[in-house]
Amino acid sequence: MPKLRTAALVAGAALLARRSLRRRVQASPLWPMPALDPPVSGRPRSRALRLLLTAHETVADGVVRLRLEGGRLPAWEPGAHLDLVLPSGLVRQYSLCGDPADTSSYTVAARLVTDGRGGSREVHEQLSEGMELQVRGPRNRFPLVEAPAYVFVAGGIGITPILPMLRALPDGTEWRLLYAGRTRASMPFLEEVRGLAGNRLTVAAGDEDGRPDLDALLADLPERTAVYCCGPQGLTAAVEERLPEGATLHLERFAPRADAVGTTAFEVELRRSGRTLTVPAGSTVLAAVRRELPDTAYSCEQGFCGTCQQRVLEGEIDHRDELLTAEERAGSMLICVSRCRSDRLVLDM
Ligand code: FES
Repeated sequence: MPKLRTAALVAGAALLARRSLRRRVQASPLWPMPALDPPVSGRPRSRALRLLLTAHETVADGVVRLRLEGGRLPAWEPGAHLDLVLPSGLVRQYSLCGDPADTSSYTVAARLVTDGRGGSREVHEQLSEGMELQVRGPRNRFPLVEAPAYVFVAGGIGITPILPMLRALPDGTEWRLLYAGRTRASMPFLEEVRGLAGNRLTVAAGDEDGRPDLDALLADLPERTAVYCCGPQGLTAAVEERLPEGATLHLERFAPRADAVGTTAFEVELRRSGRTLTVPAGSTVLAAVRRELPDTAYSCEQGFCGTCQQRVLEGEIDHRDELLTAEERAGSMLICVSRCRSDRLVLDM
């Protein structure tokens, strides 16, 4: 009984703290949230908002869920993600996994990547409730299309964009889900997923069930089934390999694009710095520029965040991002992924 009382007191204190945070956000001078940090081009690419972090809680081994609150937030649909600008300036993308009908908060979840580039560690260790964070988006490159049937394949944290899709599917829709992870304890939202999916769910926890049986999952699909996959590269590649004819594949890619490094070299002149350098095959403009100008701004290195955008004075750009507008593409490029179709590019740097 004392334990129960202590638990109730702790839960009550947490609730009061949350309410107080919520009152703070509603009373904040940032309400409604102003747009911040216009993009380099000066045109609105996506709104930047400053939101209050009102929940930072562990929901599975190595996974925290964040709730960011503001007022009248831009709408989103299942599959969308947010750019989170961390206090260090790093920008990281996280899929929205809350309720799209909730227009006053966004929910995302982040796995700790111990050998990563520091973003997830910062999310886990440096963020805390009560902090204000800048976000950009939401953007959706992984929308739920209309289809006669669906197969979902989620690996670990890859469940996050898929979860709102499962909630949004109309009754009577034919679908199945394979949810794979290292261990059950490391798989976020497993109980909710179980409740939504019932017998349409196959759980494949590596330590208990071994490798997921993708062949069985992808067998006998109705024509035009939409197959959605989000997870580690090995999993997405395995699904891609086995995709049956007649099905359509929808992949969420947060990994660097393989084609960001090309097969031919070219020259880049940095006009203002008076330097010319070579971008070798197998490397990026950003890597070459940073060897000359180490302070060059960049963050995601995946063509998502726009931090590395540079003005192009001459040369035929080979755009490989999914962010810039046609107008922006006319005179600038994201040097972390885009390349050059000609022999020479001149940047205004
Ligand atoms: S560093 Fe993010 S788009 Fe290039």
